[in-house]
Amino acid sequence: MTKRMTARGLMERKERGEKITMLTAYDYPTARIIDAAGVDAILVGDSLGNVVQGQATTLSVTLEDILYHTRMVARAVDQALVVADMPFLTYQVSPEEALRNAGRLMQDGGAQSVKLEGGTEVAPTVRRLVEVGIPVIGHIGLTPQSVHALGFRVQGRTAEAAARLMESAFALEDAGACAIVMELLPAEVSAEISRRLKVPTIGIGSGGGCDGQVLVLHDMLGIGGGVLRHNRRYAEIGQAIKDAAVSYAHDVREGAFPGPEHATTLGDAEADVLAAVRRVERRHPEGVREGSGEVGNPYGGPR
Ligand code: KIV
Repeated sequence: MTKRMTARGLMERKERGEKITMLTAYDYPTARIIDAAGVDAILVGDSLGNVVQGQATTLSVTLEDILYHTRMVARAVDQALVVADMPFLTYQVSPEEALRNAGRLMQDGGAQSVKLEGGTEVAPTVRRLVEVGIPVIGHIGLTPQSVHALGFRVQGRTAEAAARLMESAFALEDAGACAIVMELLPAEVSAEISRRLKVPTIGIGSGGGCDGQVLVLHDMLGIGGGVLRHNRRYAEIGQAIKDAAVSYAHDVREGAFPGPEHATTLGDAEADVLAAVRRVERRHPEGVREGSGEVGNPYGGPR
């Protein structure tokens, strides 16, 4: 039996020079497949706001949303580390509120760790969660919850901005974070930060010098979304779903589905059963009691 991945296990991967693999998932069947594929960590990302809910940003994702999806994922997973993303305003108000919310993701959701966005400014919160035994993954660079401040663009391109990212990474490591996601950093900057940290970095759009990689599942499966520079589409599942739906609709319209093999038949009982069905007479409208307020089936039968 393969062992369950832990926060400590991620660090050991880095110590052994082995790359860490992480993907997002938001429901039971996909989490089950990804877990069986041997991916190290499954992130119930607030990216579900974009790829599942169809929102333009992640800002409207709630703690209840993440809890709902984390429960499904946690139920499915035997081996991977389940990481629940902390949504906007569930950890920024105070470390105590963050603790209560992270606690819910672990206790009610079944997560084994949480991820939150931000650097130096969230370090006291990370420390508070780690103190009570909650493994925390940091997230620096392009932090989508700050989209209205940062835009969707590569971070850390200037000397000053890159140095601030290094400071943030140190602050998160010192606060006890067990890993740090680095989103949309120049490859040279993320490689240097990865070299200088003891904890593993998990990159997205930040080059191959990180200690691991994460992608949003729907992006790598080709479900919706446009072309993203940082992404590789490992399958065209969106197209496969569309082709299947077109074939199904065609077959139904042409009488090619269902076939005889898709239903049971009565055999010797046919005559008796159909005679019984034919003896039944419609009780409506007599069946509707006068003055009862009942209206019968609004879609079909007489009123
Ligand atoms: O929400 C998410 O899926 C993420 C990944 C892009 C790292 O934060």
